[in-house]
This record gives sequence, structure tokens and C-alpha cells, in this order.
Amino acid sequence: MRSLLRWNTPHSIRSFHTTLTRTSARLRAQEKIAEIDSVSPFSTVLVDNFHRRHDYLRISLTERCNLRCFYCMPSEGVELSPSENILTNEEILRLASLFVKSGVTKIRLTGGEPTVRKGISEIIAGLNKFRPYGLDSIAMTSNGLSLHRRLPELIENGLTHLNLSLDTLDEFRFELMTRRRGLHAVLRTLDVALASLPYVKLNVVVVKGLNDSEVLDFLAMTKEKPICVRFIEFMPFTGNKWDANKMIPSSELLKVISERHPDVMRAPDELNDTARTWKIPGYVGNFGFISSMSDHFCATCNRLRITADGQIKVCLFDAKEMSLRDKMRSGATDSELLATIGQAVLGKQEKHVGMQDIDVVTNRPMILIGGRRPTSLSGLKYPTSVAKSHPSQRRFNSSSAGPRLTHLDHTGRASMVDVGDKHPTKRTATASGRIYIPRVAYDLVTSTYPAASELESPSSPSPSQKAVSKARRKGDALTVAHLAAITGAKQTSNLIPLCHPLAISNISVVLLPEVSVSDSGERYSILCRATVSCEGKTGVEMEALTAVSVGLLTVWDMLKAVGGKEMEIGEIMVLEKTGGTHDFTRITETK
Ligand code: GTP
Ligand code: 5AD
Ligand code: SF4
Repeated sequence: MRSLLRWNTPHSIRSFHTTLTRTSARLRAQEKIAEIDSVSPFSTVLVDNFHRRHDYLRISLTERCNLRCFYCMPSEGVELSPSENILTNEEILRLASLFVKSGVTKIRLTGGEPTVRKGISEIIAGLNKFRPYGLDSIAMTSNGLSLHRRLPELIENGLTHLNLSLDTLDEFRFELMTRRRGLHAVLRTLDVALASLPYVKLNVVVVKGLNDSEVLDFLAMTKEKPICVRFIEFMPFTGNKWDANKMIPSSELLKVISERHPDVMRAPDELNDTARTWKIPGYVGNFGFISSMSDHFCATCNRLRITADGQIKVCLFDAKEMSLRDKMRSGATDSELLATIGQAVLGKQEKHVGMQDIDVVTNRPMILIGGRRPTSLSGLKYPTSVAKSHPSQRRFNSSSAGPRLTHLDHTGRASMVDVGDKHPTKRTATASGRIYIPRVAYDLVTSTYPAASELESPSSPSPSQKAVSKARRKGDALTVAHLAAITGAKQTSNLIPLCHPLAISNISVVLLPEVSVSDSGERYSILCRATVSCEGKTGVEMEALTAVSVGLLTVWDMLKAVGGKEMEIGEIMVLEKTGGTHDFTRITETK
């Protein structure tokens, strides 16, 4: 009987073509629930005080991820739980079996990135054995980065639905938003998924000034393919630098879409769907809005979550959690576990507080909704910072315990670090920075290179025309800055007295013009990002920082005729460092 409630079946793709209103779809679904009610009892353990039946369980398999989406993680990075705190495969399957036997019909595997968990294939195969108890669908939300080869096996083992997170179709922007390269890998996964599954949902978190210009490009993908694009409102989580100006209400996106497609129409939603679905007549796929910020869907919420470290979380936006892992590890019986689950479910609030009041301080960042108990910001890992140390330690390495300056000896004198005994390893470092420039300078660098005739001055040029033509005479600003950044990286040990000369194996530099929108209007900038690699005994972050600094100084020099002294260089920082004793990752705020 449960199959009547089946979500997202191939049938639902066909139903894209119907023109039912949402209300009538709801009525129909309610009738079906009533029908099921009469024959199939649903365990009261999963019913809350507001009569919501929780038949959808999200299980986070890992806190780890192979991308670093800025909206998902705090800029300081997150500290991962020790591996022994993460649920084992057996614990996951034990909990899943209890939930399914109590009435759960749909399980979604999430993360972090679920595919980075070893043994995901076995977990799916294990879940597949619960079908006789009523489990209808085994779904997964993935970034698709390393999935295209493994997807057929996962489907073979029982995976039925895939939601792919993909925020941009532009390679540069992909790298900017996720801090990694990989757009092509994700698109390959999408192709494999479309070849094997009836449809795929694409999750697009829309951020103003960043990827909102791509909404129509995403829509175009639905024309001939069974893709359901869901535009998601950017939500606040601990440390993700959410701000209201970066959030675009779904209603605004719909306006833009209707201008291009006046015949756009509402399509039926699945029961309990987080998305409000629309479609363009004649298109195979459809699109929807997940408007968590402007229109919460608490009344129909049927979801429960288990975090990777085994906490049950009854609402995405409620920091309260109860540890099922601790219960299991202290020998709880199935009925004791069910009692704890029931207690958590009964604690579920009728609705979450208004978005502006959400406690982003105590709720986990999205990547850890599947992670540590977030009682305070002390749970976040901060990069070691000399500036935070006592003033006396800022000058000398007075103690071996506290923060120390590696380039000072025990007397406080400058000295090089002796790396003679260290073994060379492959190291990389990425740094970035920005130069803020006026509109006229931005237009100049983003315009195509001028024709010779354009360079000829009019007989009596105005001061601004003179400035533009002077700047242009210098050539393509970004190309020159690119070369300067590479030269800068190679010269680091000559410029910074105590830096070791390194055998650099690669330097990659990106210079990206950007426009950000805020209350005070538009702001123009050039982002410079440099990644330097070497096989060596010390890190290459100084080389990456030098590349960025020299690149930005060169942009200044190239544009100063039009940019003037108001230009600002700033936000120079290390984003990532790998290969040394301690890897480091930081996510920049996207402006
Ligand atoms: P379907 O089962 O296909 O409906 O997937 P889903 O949308 O529930 O899951 P997915 O992992 O693809 O999440 C997409 C987006 O849904 C997330 O980015 C959130 O914005 C939103 N979402 C998922 N679960 C919840 C929830 O419990 N509450 C709220 N408010 N939003 C949620
Ligand atoms: N706002 C909205 N959606 C988010 N996701 C992660 N962080 C946020 C956020 N701050 C989305 C991812 C993924 C889904 C599980 O959650 O894009 O598709
Ligand atoms: Fe990874 Fe998904 Fe978070 Fe991006 S949104 S960092 S893909 S978990």
C-alpha cells in the first residue's frame, strides 16, 4: 500500500505534463493518505504533536566533502569529528531498519558529500534489503564530482533517485563558488545519471551578483532532458557569511523567467515537496523554487535527519539533537532506541522561527548537518593566528608551548628555518586578493582589446579620454598582471628575506573581474587567485601570496590613469595549503 505514497517515481515525471493545481494535487494526496491509514498503521514513534508523519529520513554518511562551497562551510573551516565518532555501516543500517519498520518509506543519503564515504555501495545494498518492510526509494544528494564512474554500481545496488548540486555552468564561477575545479566531472555525472535514471533533480543555490544571471541557462537544460532544476534560496548557517543582500527571493526569479517565458505555468508538486514546481509548456523537464527563506513549508514537513555522528535532528533549523550513537554504544535495545527517537520527534516545533531569527550561532553549518554537536562557536576550528596571542609572544618565541614565530631564534633574532632534515613532499598553496576599482576602469578591462583606430586620440581629447587612452596604451591589463603574478611568485625568495628558494613546478593565476551589489550600490573589483605547486621541504604559501600581491599591484599600475588613488587592494589571504604537516582550508566570503 505504501507504494501509493511513492515519491518521485517515473510516474511523477510524466505528471509534469499535467496541469493540475497544487490544491487539487494535495486533496488527491490526502485522500490517498486516508486510504492508506485505514489499512496500514504508522508507528506513533514517528508522529509528532502536530500530527505530522515522518516517513522521510535523511542520513548523513560523512562530514567530509571534496568541494568547499562557500555557502555551506564557515570561512574558518570546520573541525571534523574523529572517525570513531562517526556511525559505522552496521550502526547506520540498524537505525535505518528501525525507521523503516516504523513507517519510513524514503531514505536520502547526504553528507558532506556522501560519495566520499568508503562503503557507500554496501550501505545502499544494505538499505535495499529493507524494501520488503516498506522502503520505496533510496535517494542521494551529491555534488557529482566523483560519481560518474560509480553511479551505475550504486544504481545496481538499489539507488533510485539522485539530486545533484550544481550552482553554475561556468567553469570559472564553479571554481569560485566551490573552491575546486570540476564542472566537467559534474556534467559527466549528470549525463550518466540521465542515461540510467528516469530524471535528475539539479539543486542550484542562487546568490545575488554571482550566479543569478544563469537562471535562464539552467532552464534551457530542461527543454529536452528530464531535469528538474530547483532554484534554492541562500540560507544562513554558522559562519557562511549569509546576508540578506545576497539572497534573491524566488518571486524575483519567477519574474525574470516569466519575462522570457510568458507561458510559464504552475505544475503539480509532490506531497511534502520542499519545491514549488513550474514548467514551460513543451519542455521535457521542469523547474521549481525551494524558498526556505521566504515561504517555509513546516506544516507539511515529513523529514527527520541522522547526522554522520549519529544525532537525530528533527528540523534543519533547530540546533537540538539527541545522540542515537551514544545510546547504541551503551547497549540500548531496539525499543530503547525507538523511545529516544519518539522523544526527539515529540520535541519537534510546529514551525521554525522566522529566518531572520534563526540561531546561526548554535546551529551547525550545512556541511555538518551530519557532524558535531554545535553548542557554541568554540566548535569551529580557527587558523592559528599570531595576532590572537599575547603581545609578548608576538615578538619572540618566548615559549615553546604558545604560538611561535618560526623565523625567530630563541633570542628573538631573525633566522632561516633549517629544513635540512625534512623530506620533500608535493605541496600546493592557493591565495587570493582583490583590487576594488571604479566603473570606468572595470569597463576598460572587461571591454575587448581596442582596435588601432580607437587608440587614435581625437584632436582635443577630454581629461578622461586622455586617461583611458593612456591606460590602453599599456595593453591588456589582466594579461600583464597575469605574467607579473607568475614572475612575482618565482621571485619570492629574493623579495622576502627569510624565505627559502623553492623549485616551483607550477603556477596558475586567475584574474576575474567581478561586480557585487549591496545597499550602497554596485562595487567593481578584480579578484586575483594564484595556486603554486612545488616538490619541496617547505610550503609555497608565500609564493602564492606574492603572486597575488604582485598581480594586484600590476593591475593598479595598469589602471591608475583611470582608476586614480581611490582604488583599494585588500583581502589578501591564503585559501588553502596542502602537503605539509598541517593542511589548511579557508573559504572566502563571496562578495
Ligand atoms: P527531494 O527528496 O527530492 O525533495 O529532495 P530534497 O529537496 O528534500 O533534498 P536535497 O538534499 O536535494 O535538498 C535540497 C534543498 O532542500 C536544500 O538545499 C534545502 O534548501 C532544502 N531542504 C532539504 N531539507 C530541508 C528541510 O528539512 N527543511 C528546509 N527548510 N529545507 C530543506
Ligand atoms: N543555502 C541553501 N542551500 C544550501 N545547500 C548547502 N548550503 C546551503 C545554503 N546555505 C544545499 C546544497 C545541496 C543541498 C543539500 O543543500 O546546494 O544541494
Ligand atoms: Fe560539499 Fe555540498 Fe557543502 Fe558544496 S554544498 S561543500 S558539495 S557538502
